Amino acid sequence: MTPQLSMFRPRLDDLPPVTLPEGCELRTFAPGDEAVWERIIGISFGKNPGDIVFGKSMLESGEFQPGRVFFIRHNGEDAAVAAAYSRKPETMPGCGYLHYVGVLPGHTGLRLGYWVSLAALHRMRGEGRERANLHTDDFRLPAVKTYLNLGFVPVLVDENQRQRWRDVFAALSLPTLAERCAPILDGPVWHAPEIPPVVSLV
Ligand SMILES: CC(C)(COP(=O)(O)OP(=O)(O)OC[C@H]1O[C@@H](n2cnc3c(N)ncnc32)[C@H](O)[C@@H]1OP(=O)(O)O)[C@@H](O)C(=O)NCCC(=O)NCCS
Repeated sequence: MTPQLSMFRPRLDDLPPVTLPEGCELRTFAPGDEAVWERIIGISFGKNPGDIVFGKSMLESGEFQPGRVFFIRHNGEDAAVAAAYSRKPETMPGCGYLHYVGVLPGHTGLRLGYWVSLAALHRMRGEGRERANLHTDDFRLPAVKTYLNLGFVPVLVDENQRQRWRDVFAALSLPTLAERCAPILDGPVWHAPEIPPVVSLV
């Protein structure tokens, strides 16, 4: 469904610390990790080898820095990845962009997507960014739940998303979120470079 769903985290100065589950190690990109990234993202997104290429997805924007790409090794295997990018031109002032989050299927269920994304958000904060946004899809329920857990809230970017977000919340068995998000879902469609309305979902 288009356009993709959009979410934003209104602030980055209140991030919780990264406390990894047992058996996990956090690291950033090292030489040769292109293939590791392609494996995690390709498999987690259900793509064929070669469908998602590091060079196109991560280098073309010119934002790649090794310290912006995070991996979690779990039980000795590189299992999770997320990147702390931005969108150029920025869609809202001072905004980082959470880019390509994936966890290998054999390692899901431990919230590794949460922890690796949180590490990326800390990096954005370290670079002086004040907020973060991302894009996702209606069917990616584990991803949307992860982003809600991280403090992201919906941004209404199209009329058709008023109902789509309600359907997503129903699919997540979180119908009360539709009520809490009413100022967003019943409000105006967001346009860059405004700061979207903030609601508390906690
Ligand atoms: C999104 C992703 C990274 C999350 O992986 P993970 O961290 O292992 O996720 P978990 O299995 O721990 O689940 C995360 C949350 O989603 C919930 N969840 C998982 N599967 C779910 C489902 N089918 N329906 C609803 N909620 C679900 C979990 O209960 C958990 O919520 P909680 O911690 O509040 O209980 C992983 O699913 C993935 O790689 N997906 C494919 C790629 C993708 O969609 N990436 C995001 C692109 S925007």
